[in-house]
Amino acid sequence: MTQSWKERAENVIMPLYPHRDICLERGDGCYLYDTDGKQYLDCAASIAVSSLGHGNTEYTKAAIDQLQKFIMCDGYTLSEPKVECAELLIEHCCAEQVFFCNSGAEAVEGCLKLARKWAHFNKSPDCKEIIAFDCSFHGRTYGAASCTYKRKKQDYYAPYLPGIHFAEFNNLDSVKALISDKTCAVIVEPVQGEGGIRPATNDFIQGLRDLCTEHDIVLISDEIQAGMGRLGTLYAHDYYDVEPDLIAIAKGMGAGFPIGAFLGKKKFTSVFSAGDHGTTYGGNPLGTRLAYETVKQISDPAFLKNVTETGNYLIEGLNKLKSETNSIEEVRGIGLMIGVDTAYDIKTVLNDLLEGGLIATQAGDKSLRLTPPLIFTKDHVDEALNKIGHVIRKS
Ligand SMILES: Cc1ncc(COP(=O)(O)O)c(C=O)c1O
Repeated sequence: MTQSWKERAENVIMPLYPHRDICLERGDGCYLYDTDGKQYLDCAASIAVSSLGHGNTEYTKAAIDQLQKFIMCDGYTLSEPKVECAELLIEHCCAEQVFFCNSGAEAVEGCLKLARKWAHFNKSPDCKEIIAFDCSFHGRTYGAASCTYKRKKQDYYAPYLPGIHFAEFNNLDSVKALISDKTCAVIVEPVQGEGGIRPATNDFIQGLRDLCTEHDIVLISDEIQAGMGRLGTLYAHDYYDVEPDLIAIAKGMGAGFPIGAFLGKKKFTSVFSAGDHGTTYGGNPLGTRLAYETVKQISDPAFLKNVTETGNYLIEGLNKLKSETNSIEEVRGIGLMIGVDTAYDIKTVLNDLLEGGLIATQAGDKSLRLTPPLIFTKDHVDEALNKIGHVIRKS
């Protein structure tokens, strides 16, 4: 008997992800196809990554063109895509300088190092503490993992970075209680992703900005999941109308190509000098060319308007389903970053959706996470609601 892809994978790939029972072969727009030719509506975008969907024409052309030109040069050497991508990111941002890396965790590491160096010279060498939040997720490298709430369940990896404290998300008083002369930075996700799609309130983000300004603390906005158009604004902080000091981005900025970045005002970034930080692949011509193409498309106001309108339409539809079925407990989200708590076991819901031809993911302990490609239309929403409704009604 021939082995399934899943069986073959489980033999040779470490057991860190419980694999879905399918093997994908190709994608087209908002659809994915498995090796048996079955079609799936993509409501995951590989967890908020495939922002332009699959097979985007301009993106593909840019990839082929850049592959034919050259794809790699070291950090000492400039390439047109690197400079142009940096200029484009800055053009739309309160930040003034950018550093390219390869993933979200690396972008967070960069922010933490920059914040600590800035505080070391501008406040005191003892000023190293960082405030993060309950249910936060910032990545799996040690600095990022140290700021991630889940570390509390992963004590086998200890010791983590010292001096990290966790305040309560959306509770400014809990932040105030942790602030001292040693507080160097506050790191926050404007909408918590892995924690269960929990949007920050406007008052909370604006209050954090005021507190950080008052105490000369670096405000780090981790927009790795919520940024790059997902909330209907290019940067997640634009939705909240605040200017963070440092911003971490990744995921959707490369539309599938692994790239991340962190950005900041020169007031902060100027403390970095040659040799302080670096990466072999960060800013390579292929990655920055693809990020340029992605950001160019996403930053178009008509593109962002579609995210807001389609997202609102999806939230309305889910709320309607909630009122009709009693099987939905809560719908949360902004733009195309949506969480749904159902009365059912989330793993069963996800499997049933997969069987019905819809790919979604889990966030937090029990939430159905919908983060489709940002090119989703109202027709895609109708199809998604139909498939979700079918599963919810029958569960
Ligand atoms: C908010 C946030 N920060 C950081 C990360 C880590 O990004 P990466 O997996 O690219 O290292 C993620 C990934 O899910 C994320 O959602």
